[in-house]
Amino acid sequence: MKRVLITGGAGYVGCMVVPKLLEAGYAVVVYDLMLFGSHGLPTHPHLRVIEADIRDTARFSSAVEGCAQRDPFGVYLE
Ligand SMILES: NC(=O)c1ccc[n+]([C@@H]2O[C@H](COP(=O)([O-])OP(=O)(O)OC[C@H]3O[C@@H](n4cnc5c(N)ncnc54)[C@H](O)[C@@H]3O)[C@@H](O)[C@H]2O)c1
Repeated sequence: MKRVLITGGAGYVGCMVVPKLLEAGYAVVVYDLMLFGSHGLPTHPHLRVIEADIRDTARFSSAVEGCAQRDPFGVYLE
């Protein structure tokens, strides 16, 4: 199963995209500071939520370990 990490994934755009990725069969990691909470995210066995700051480089590096491909929206993991 391919994994997708989405920074800011608990925000407006993320909450639109995350369910679609889960439906498409991806495992999804949301990396978000939760400034507005996480109420827009579904509960799903293939969804992992990391509450952390993107400026925490050590934490972020750990979260994206194994990164295969990056784009402006998120980080795709294998
Ligand atoms: N009903 C609507 O049409 C509607 C509603 C809201 C927003 N919008 C649009 O959506 C766009 C904004 O959506 P979005 O999803 O990009 O933004 P957002 O503000 O909804 O979400 C940003 C997310 O990033 C997180 N974040 C912020 N700083 C962070 C940090 N340092 N580390 C980790 N996470 C951090 C926040 O906690 C938040 O969950 C805008 O264009 C806005 O106009 C539309």
